[in-house]
Amino acid sequence: MALQVFTAVTGAAWESELVGALDREDHGVTVVRRCVDVADLLAAAGTGTGQAALLSAELRRLDAAAVARLTAAGVAVVGLVEPGDTAAAARLRQLGVLRVLPADALPEEIARALRDAVSGAPPAGHDVADPRAALPVLGLPPEASGRPAGPGRVVAVWGPTGAPGRTTVAVGIADEAARLEVSALLVDADVYGGVVAQVLGLLDESPGVAAATRQAAAGTLDLPALTRLAWAVGPHLRVLTGLARADRWPELRPQAMAAVLEEARRFAALTVVDCGFCVEEDEELSFDTAAPRRNGATLAVLESADEVLCVSGADPVALQRTVRALAALREVLPDVEPVVVVNQVRRGPVPGDARQEIADALERFAGRGVRTFLPADRRATDAALAGGRTLAEAAPHSPLRTGLRTLAAELCGVPVPTGARGRRRR
Ligand SMILES: Nc1ncnc2c1ncn2[C@@H]1O[C@H](COP(=O)(O)OP(=O)(O)OP(=O)(O)O)[C@@H](O)[C@H]1O
Ligand SMILES: [Mg+2]
Repeated sequence: MALQVFTAVTGAAWESELVGALDREDHGVTVVRRCVDVADLLAAAGTGTGQAALLSAELRRLDAAAVARLTAAGVAVVGLVEPGDTAAAARLRQLGVLRVLPADALPEEIARALRDAVSGAPPAGHDVADPRAALPVLGLPPEASGRPAGPGRVVAVWGPTGAPGRTTVAVGIADEAARLEVSALLVDADVYGGVVAQVLGLLDESPGVAAATRQAAAGTLDLPALTRLAWAVGPHLRVLTGLARADRWPELRPQAMAAVLEEARRFAALTVVDCGFCVEEDEELSFDTAAPRRNGATLAVLESADEVLCVSGADPVALQRTVRALAALREVLPDVEPVVVVNQVRRGPVPGDARQEIADALERFAGRGVRTFLPADRRATDAALAGGRTLAEAAPHSPLRTGLRTLAAELCGVPVPTGARGRRRR
C-alpha cells in the first residue's frame, strides 16, 4: 500500500510541481492532504489517515511543539528547504526535523526520505535524507548542517528526592571545571524550582533556561543567542538560570530542552545540568506527547547527557531513596547508565566503615558501584551559602571543595590538580 502523506508546503513556488510529481509517478507515495498551515496539518495528523508529513521550512508558526505533536500522532516528518538555505536547514533540525532535503531534490529521493522516516531508519551515512548528506546537494559546508559542531560534553546531575546535594554538586563541578580552564556552562533545569541563581548570588529576574528553550522551540537559538542568555560568572563559566517559580515548569518542554543541550555542546566544553529529582511519568512511558509533562525535561536531559551523575545522600533513608530512584530510572530510560556520587558522607548514620557499608549496600540493592564519595562539610557549604559564593571562593581548603575539584577534573579528562589548593582566584 502506498505511503499516505500530508504536505504542508503551501506558498512555495515549487509546491504544485513537487506534489504533482510525487503523486504522478509510482514512488509508492500518495498525497492525501495538502495542508495550508500548521493547524491544518495537526488536525490532519489527528485523523490517523497519514503516516508522514512533508513540510517546508517556511511554514508559519512551525515550532518544536508542533513537530513533537506530529511525532506523537505517529506522523513522521521530512523537511524541505530552498536549495542553499543553510539557516533554514539548521532551524528545522533544531525543531526536531531530522531529515531535511533541498526542495529541488528528485521526487524519488523525497519519497525515499519519507519511507525511511516512517520506518525509523536512522538518518545517517549516505542516506539522502540525512541533513548532512543533503549538504553537498545544498552546496553547503558540513558545519552548516545545524548538527553540533563542538565536542562539548553534557553531564546531568540528578538524584532522588530529599535534597541529597544535586545543586551543590552541579555548581561545584561547573565552577571547578571553569577554574581548570575548561569552558563550562551550568544549566539549571530543575522543574521543581531552580535555585542556582540564588546559590551564586545572582539577582536574576528572568530565567535564562526558559528563554533558551523558548528560542529553541522557535528554532532561533544559536550561539550568539545562548551567549546573551547565559550569565558570565567568570572567565570560563556561564550560567543559564532556572525557574525560581516552580509553577512555570510547563515552559521547559522536553524537545526544546534537548535542543538547548545540543547548542550547549557547541558553546562549552562541559555543560553541567542541575536536574529535577523525579523521573516518574504521568501517563505512558513516552515523554514526547502533546500534553506537557513535568518530568519530561528531566528525562530529555538524562537521555541527552553523556554522563549522568546520581547524587545520593549517605544515611540509610537517603540510600533507600537512591535505590528506588535508580530502579525508576532503569524502568523509564534503560539505556542510561548513571554513576553514583555519594554526598554528605559522615560518621554516625551508618555504623562501621561508612564508605564500605554504603558501597556494599548500593552494590547489593542497586547493582551500582560508587564513583565518588564527598564528605559532609557543613561549615564549607554554610560559608558558601552565606555569601552567595562557590566553595572554591568561600572555603577553598575544605575537603568538600577538594572532592568536587577532583571529580570535575576527572569528568573533564584533565589532570587532577595537586598542591596550591584554591590559590587561583578569578
Ligand atoms: N557535602 C555536604 N555537606 C554539607 N552540606 C551539604 C553538602 N551537600 C549539600 N549540602 C547542603 O544540603 C542542602 C541541600 O543541598 P542541595 O540544595 O545541593 O540539594 P539538592 O539535591 O539540590 O536539593 P533540592 O531537592 O532542593 O534541589 C543545602 O543546604 C546544602 O548546602
Ligand atoms: Mg537542587
